[in-house]
Amino acid sequence: MSGPPHTPALPWRGVMLDVARHFLPIGEVRRMVDAMALLRLNALHLHLTDDQGWRFESKSWPRLTEIGAWRDATVVGRPGNYTDWSLHPENHLNTYSRVRHGGFYTQAELRDLVAYARERGVTVVPEIDMPGHMRAARAAYPDLGYEPTALGVGRSWGIYPEVLRVDETGLAFCTDILAEVVDVFDAPYVHIGGDECPKVEWEASPVAQAQRRDLGLSEVADLQRWFTGRIAAYLTSCGRRLIGWDEIIDEGVPDGDPVVMAWRDWTDAAGRATRAGVDVVQAPSLLYFDHACGTGDGEPLSIAPGADLAAVYAYDPYAGLSDPAHLLGLQAQLWSEYIPTADHLWYMAFPRLVAVADIGWYGADRPPYEEFLADLPGRLEALADLGIGHRPL
Ligand code: ACM
Repeated sequence: MSGPPHTPALPWRGVMLDVARHFLPIGEVRRMVDAMALLRLNALHLHLTDDQGWRFESKSWPRLTEIGAWRDATVVGRPGNYTDWSLHPENHLNTYSRVRHGGFYTQAELRDLVAYARERGVTVVPEIDMPGHMRAARAAYPDLGYEPTALGVGRSWGIYPEVLRVDETGLAFCTDILAEVVDVFDAPYVHIGGDECPKVEWEASPVAQAQRRDLGLSEVADLQRWFTGRIAAYLTSCGRRLIGWDEIIDEGVPDGDPVVMAWRDWTDAAGRATRAGVDVVQAPSLLYFDHACGTGDGEPLSIAPGADLAAVYAYDPYAGLSDPAHLLGLQAQLWSEYIPTADHLWYMAFPRLVAVADIGWYGADRPPYEEFLADLPGRLEALADLGIGHRPL
């Protein structure tokens, strides 16, 4: 090879931090930015809200952080009956640690982070997950549900059925929050989640059913596509483009030229999106770095077995796409249910994230794996100089 190319193969070379399930102090988020700059990764996706915690300071909805940023307990280990997805996450045979957990970022802290990242060639892409994964917001403001049930912030892992009402009240909440988000973050994209939104509450709600009829929709589930289209229009009016997890196209592509972050590779999510003419960021389960490195034997508790370094390096982001022109890039995910500390985060992220960086930078022209391995110790030493550890090679 005659030295690295000056332009990257793919424009989106990302990593997602889930700061909702376990809060990550802002200094550690900055440290990840340092690592990204070193590796020439350029998109830091912050998953700021989820059932178990709301981490974005809102001036207009202050209870989101007064109430929604804190949980009074956390499930220990895996929830009992873990594989029975029909159970409510808090109805498993769970053991809880009664330690209060939480935290949030002020808007001032996030503005500083955005500037710090920008100086290092990294764009911070905020995610406010809607209309599912809303239990922390519902705990803060019960009226955000079609029924104003009193709820606590989530304390277990899984998919909570308590979601957002998607009528004008729910939309007004979302646009209030997004107005603050676009004021703090300068990324051209705003991520609105859109994943794993159970429709049981909408099915049961006379208000949602009347809304469905008034909008001429055949299924209550179609309300999500309609809602996403409204949010996309709002973001367009703010000069931003909507990106969401691949569920946002399950009922057809919403209006507003959304980008799909394709995670459910087993549903051919990226192929479906590109065939529909939609731009894609590849975030397949192979790049879920909360999954163990390999089979998990001898590894710390994690959510599932996963891909080892060689498998990650062999990943082809173009596989299964109908039109390569629709590929924006690729991204690794660090969901944090089983990643409670920064040291654990570095262990799960590195060295696999180095491989993602090189796929994004070199594309198909990356060096052979043996060459990558030969260079790796030096690159990990450079990360160690930033205070970042790694899984032993
Ligand atoms: C996801 O893993 N729920 C995007």
